[in-house]
Amino acid sequence: MENDIEKVLVDEQEIQRRLDGMALELEGDFPGEPLLVVVLLKGALVFAADLLRRMPRMLEIECLSVASYHGGLDSCGVVSFLDRELPDVRGRRVLVLDDILDTGRTLRAVVDRLLGDGALEVRTGVLLAKAKRRAADVEANYVGFHIADEFVVGYGLDYRGRYRNLPYVGVLGRAAR
Ligand code: IMP
Ligand code: MG
Repeated sequence: MENDIEKVLVDEQEIQRRLDGMALELEGDFPGEPLLVVVLLKGALVFAADLLRRMPRMLEIECLSVASYHGGLDSCGVVSFLDRELPDVRGRRVLVLDDILDTGRTLRAVVDRLLGDGALEVRTGVLLAKAKRRAADVEANYVGFHIADEFVVGYGLDYRGRYRNLPYVGVLGRAAR
C-alpha cells in the first residue's frame, strides 16, 4: 500500500498537532453548550475519531452516509443520502465533519438538509480543503489543512475504497490509478 504513494502531503505528526489546535478552537467556540456532531461516512471516520477524543466536553455523535464521489477520481455532482433515517437535529447546534472540501457539493447538501430539518445552527469542519473554485457556495468553518487541487488518499480518504487506513495524507502515484 505504502508503495503506491507518490509523496506524503501531510504526515502523521503534522495531522496530530493540527488536531490539538482544532480541538482547542472548537472548545472555545462552543463553550459548554450541548453539541451534536454529525460525522460523514466513511471519509471523516478517522479524522472524527482523533479530533473528538481531544474534546473533553459533553457531545453526541451521529453518522451520515452520503455518496457523491462513487469511489473514483471525479465527483459526479449528485449528492445522495443513503440512510433510511437521518438524525434528529431539531433545535440543535450541529457540527458537521467531513474529510475534504472539494467541489463543496457534499457539505452544501448536508448543511441545507440539516437546516431544513430544523437545526438551530450548522457549522462545518474538514481535515482538508482543496484550493479551487467551489461548484457549490460553501466554505468550511474549521479547516485542518489547505492543499492544492490534487487527488489525495489516506487518513480516511480513499481511492476505490482503499488507502483509508494510511496514517497520513498522500498523493497516489499514477501507476496505482
Ligand atoms: P465535494 O462534494 O466535491 O466537496 O466532495 C467531497 C467528497 O469527495 C469528500 O467527502 C471525499 O469523499 C471525496 N473527495 C474529494 N476529493 C477527494 C480526494 O482528493 N481524495 C479522495 N476523496 C476525495
Ligand atoms: Mg468520501
